[in-house]
Amino acid sequence: MGPPALPTARTLLLLLCLAVSSAMLTPAAEAAARRHRSTPTPSSGVGGGGSGCDATSTSPSPLWVFGDSYADTGNLGDLGRELTHAWYDPYGDTFPGRPTGRFSDGRVLTDFIASAMGMPTPVAYKLRRGAAPGLLARGMNFAVGGAGVLDTGNFQRNISAQIDLFQAQQRAASNRGCDAGVAVVVVSGNDYSYAADKDNSTSAAIAYIPTVVRQLREQLRRLRDEAGMRKVVVTNLHPMGCTPLFTRALNYSGCDSLANAGAAQHNAALQSVLAALDPANSTFLLLDLNAPIAALADSPATPGRFAEPKRPCCETFSSGGYCGQHDDDGKNLYTLCDDPAKHFYWDDVHPTQAAWAAVAESFRPNIHEFLST
Ligand SMILES: *[C@@H]1O[C@H](CO)[C@@H](O)[C@H](O)[C@H]1NC(C)=O
Ligand SMILES: *[C@@H]1O[C@H](CO)[C@@H](O)[C@H](O)[C@H]1NC(C)=O
Ligand SMILES: *[C@@H]1O[C@H](CO)[C@@H](O)[C@H](O)[C@H]1NC(C)=O
Ligand SMILES: *[C@@H]1O[C@H](CO)[C@@H](O)[C@H](O)[C@H]1NC(C)=O
Repeated sequence: MGPPALPTARTLLLLLCLAVSSAMLTPAAEAAARRHRSTPTPSSGVGGGGSGCDATSTSPSPLWVFGDSYADTGNLGDLGRELTHAWYDPYGDTFPGRPTGRFSDGRVLTDFIASAMGMPTPVAYKLRRGAAPGLLARGMNFAVGGAGVLDTGNFQRNISAQIDLFQAQQRAASNRGCDAGVAVVVVSGNDYSYAADKDNSTSAAIAYIPTVVRQLREQLRRLRDEAGMRKVVVTNLHPMGCTPLFTRALNYSGCDSLANAGAAQHNAALQSVLAALDPANSTFLLLDLNAPIAALADSPATPGRFAEPKRPCCETFSSGGYCGQHDDDGKNLYTLCDDPAKHFYWDDVHPTQAAWAAVAESFRPNIHEFLST
């Protein structure tokens, strides 16, 4: 009796929670928008000092980041604990010691890519007003948690809209025609989570792959041909079936093979898109996150570098909960591990800082080589 009934009930509950939270998004977002409207909004905080092409040719290329929560360093903004977990405890515990909108205990992919390029983390678009002009000249991060290649129902700027924002800034600063610098595009699967949630199936997500990759191809082409990027680094999809979102149902003992097959299919499609766009590999670099993450998080036989490759450090009491969730009395509805550095995953979908550091070891040489040509 129990076994067949259980998953159904749990799934229904999950769907109900999703319905409730998306119904709540609108009023909360509106309240936040109202709060923001009451503060003055300068038309544009960026300018890069208005330097011409000659000046930028001797200084290092600026770094422009587009994508989702794997790359977001503060763009989601604080819309309350329930909607924007990354702005609440225990996010940011390891670095910088408080929540800053990064979806981890500390640094995220953007921080490690910037460091591999020998530059500071570019300022988050949302935080540009407080940034030093010197930092603004080094680029900007437009990535925002929840975003997708296409719209994901999260009300966040999709990657096309992030590129629009970049181009509007360049026009405002009269930087059109110059070598714009280096772009990084991080796509971690929100389009697929959206498709899977909508249809309650991983196969619906897999059917969506051609649509997503076709749109991503257009975004990559724009970055080179219209936005003037000299180099474009694009990440492939991590093994989504190894995230705790999937492995929790397996008692953290293995990965979901269908979800991983979907990620592999996306990656193969992306690789052919790049081969067609750039046969000489002169502009685009496919940054492989899948292989290093699979090696670190999917190590069934040999113990890997992480004592806990699948169980998240911040583990919710219920599968529909979230890291940082409180009950009405303010009591935590999650447990926190003693040492995030022993865990690959921080929460149900995001790696720890230690995990990103380990992954970065694998891509650092590729980035160096690619950007020096
Ligand atoms: C969702 O899918 C699962 C497995 O495919 C199934 O058991 C469950 O009944 C579905 N739930 C709904 C609400 O359709
Ligand atoms: C991306 O967002 C823009 C602005 O909200 C919207 O007009 C456009 O339709 C979206 N594109 C896709 C492919 O969903
Ligand atoms: C889940 O795994 C833990 C060890 O990691 C084990 O102690 C526990 O019994 C397992 N639970 C089930 C239901 O298999
Ligand atoms: C471009 O890179 C791909 C793999 O990323 C490789 O298979 C291909 O041979 C490369 N092409 C050239 C011309 O170097």
